[in-house]
Amino acid sequence: MSNTFILNGKETPLKPDQMILEAARNGGIEIPTLCYLKGATPTGACRICLVEVKGARSLMAACSTPVSQGMEVFTDSTLVHQARKLNVELLLSSGKHNCMTCEANGNCRLQDLAYFYKITTPRFEESEQKYPTEDENPFIVRDFSRCILCGRCVQACNELVVNRAISLGYRGSESKVVTGGDGPYNDSECVFCGQCVEVCPVGALTEKKAKGLGRPWETQKIRTTCPYCGVGCQQLLHVKDGKIIKVTAVEDAQPNQGRLCVKGRFAYDFIYSEERLKTPLIREKNGEFREASWDEALDLVATKFKEIIKKDGPDAIAGVSCARSINEDSYQMQKLFRAVIGTNNIDHCART
Ligand code: FES
Repeated sequence: MSNTFILNGKETPLKPDQMILEAARNGGIEIPTLCYLKGATPTGACRICLVEVKGARSLMAACSTPVSQGMEVFTDSTLVHQARKLNVELLLSSGKHNCMTCEANGNCRLQDLAYFYKITTPRFEESEQKYPTEDENPFIVRDFSRCILCGRCVQACNELVVNRAISLGYRGSESKVVTGGDGPYNDSECVFCGQCVEVCPVGALTEKKAKGLGRPWETQKIRTTCPYCGVGCQQLLHVKDGKIIKVTAVEDAQPNQGRLCVKGRFAYDFIYSEERLKTPLIREKNGEFREASWDEALDLVATKFKEIIKKDGPDAIAGVSCARSINEDSYQMQKLFRAVIGTNNIDHCART
């Protein structure tokens, strides 16, 4: 007997240990999710992925229910849509989801679901704002009034990047994503990799530096390799009017699989620094620097190298390549030193 289940009346293959969500997606059926985070343990927190399973006493969360041989699943029934819509309405009433000024407008799963279910006026009363917004750090704004407690940030911090800086704290209507001791990010174990921001499906966690700089539909997304170290993490530059306003990771791309470190995500300001050297400088005999052409500077370095080698041998020269070099440039640097200059005095400044 082949491994199949019945998905919306159609025989569909399944793999061992698969959840309904994954098996359905493989079968070409999309089920909406909010809390589901690929690569992390499913929590079943949001109940947006509810499906009908024949014989089950209640609707099941597709993200956390294993699929089994012969199971009959319905993802598109009236009951399913009524339940999903109700859950979206409850989430909308859980905080201040006013999209007009939200940084996530245009990139918000809750907004998409509200649109899909044509929810113009929330059926339930909006909850009081319990916790003030926290933006005491240079990178991340935590707006608790927009948090739907899906737990994706916690899963990402604990299971994807394994920093374990945040968890779900308090109980019931007091629930909140907390750091150890419930202090601000600044006083916590947080290393500001920003993975929590990356996975937040609403506007509860946003990049501080990108605030007010552009909407998602106004930016061009340019894929590139992070310039910081030789790992080669894949990132997306969000560019508006020729200027980077935000950096995110490329989902599912190797080698970083949707993750970035604090430098890759937030430290792109140097590109626009007025102090950035764009022309070679040559130090004069009086100690002052003067601008020079690349030809002049390179000729001078080559001449000096030759003089040193002639006088003291190649081991009198050492090279340190830049931590921001790509692997190919670092390879060429060591080739230059070993094969051309003739020394093994070559290193890579990886610790910045
Ligand atoms: Fe399944 Fe949230 S996505 S419960």
